[in-house]
Amino acid sequence: MIILGIETSCDETAASLIESKRGNLNVLSSVVSSQTAIHADWGGVVPNLAAREHLKNLIPVLELALKQAGKSKKDIDLITITHGPGLIPALLIGTNSAKTLSYVWNKPLLGIHHIEGHIYANFIEDKISASSKSKVQSLKFPILCLVVSGGHTQLVLMKKHLDYKIIGQTLDDAAGEAFDKVARILNLGYPGGPVVAKAAKTANNLKAKSYNLSFPRPMVNKNNFDFSFSGLKTAALYETKKNPKLLKDKNYISAVAKEFQQAVVDVLIIKTIKAAKEYNPKTIMLAGGVSANKELRKQLDKAIKKELKNTLYIIPSMSYCIDNAAMIAVAGHFRWKNMSPTQKKKALNTWKTLQADANLKLK
Ligand code: KG4
Ligand code: ZN
Repeated sequence: MIILGIETSCDETAASLIESKRGNLNVLSSVVSSQTAIHADWGGVVPNLAAREHLKNLIPVLELALKQAGKSKKDIDLITITHGPGLIPALLIGTNSAKTLSYVWNKPLLGIHHIEGHIYANFIEDKISASSKSKVQSLKFPILCLVVSGGHTQLVLMKKHLDYKIIGQTLDDAAGEAFDKVARILNLGYPGGPVVAKAAKTANNLKAKSYNLSFPRPMVNKNNFDFSFSGLKTAALYETKKNPKLLKDKNYISAVAKEFQQAVVDVLIIKTIKAAKEYNPKTIMLAGGVSANKELRKQLDKAIKKELKNTLYIIPSMSYCIDNAAMIAVAGHFRWKNMSPTQKKKALNTWKTLQADANLKLK
């Protein structure tokens, strides 16, 4: 079965073709056209600008995805599209395009929750060797998934496929949003995650000590699994206001970036381990754009090995951490598998009813 995925919820226009064959998933193509350079001037995503770019880029991206996969429209068995959450002007371009393709090509259509896509990015394996059992094939439920993106920070418990219980979430900013805001404070550009991580990597430990930085680890002592990151951004802001001249000092910028990143990573890890000790998942997964953060990937691995000896740890490949359409198609594969023949038939008419929903809930 060949599934087309389309994603336009934020500032990436993406299309992908995946093939599912006897339970194995193979990404045939995954094309992502990023608009970050366009939004960088504004320090964040401008919704109407994003919509204009999606409109311009979606057809070429789709054509390229088909070409790279060596397929044509007749090969496609199912169309999947992100229908929320996200920026409404951006979502509307993707959903209306997918609805039109479904109608004109007479193919079934499924709307996918963006975060469900991020979670299912963990089920994409670049190369599965036939002889050894893959990590994904051996993963077991329940799964605890730490979702960390530009719009979401959640701990999600999955007892089975497509079953989500949110056991904790941010009360204010998302982790990625905090990276973006601190990058702006440090004049590092947009998107914040990669540039803050890069600056942190070059921090000189000896010099960093002399700045005496110590940011809080918000909510770690609270008896729940919720997060709060807006105070951390404020801590970075106050710190840099003390002596604005220091913002010209590369060593200082790196030191602030490092301390901020470590504070975020500490909080995420402490809460995830705490939640795992209470809910005893067999697998822990990472999902969303911030899962590209190397320190988070590495330090969570270390903490799980130390504190949760029998828990499997799965992370998405780097190319599927930030927004892409392969993750949407893969989530679509699991949804399709779960549907009755009648529901599958009805999906031919989804184009009549599918709506973009900026605040779509994960369920
Ligand atoms: O999942 P995503 O591509 O879009 C949303 O669904 O929001 O996530 C984007 C977020 C941005 O806030 C970006 O700064 C952050 O992910 N991000 C990172 C890294 N790469 C992207 N944060 C920390 N470290 C990174 N390496
Ligand atoms: Zn995303």
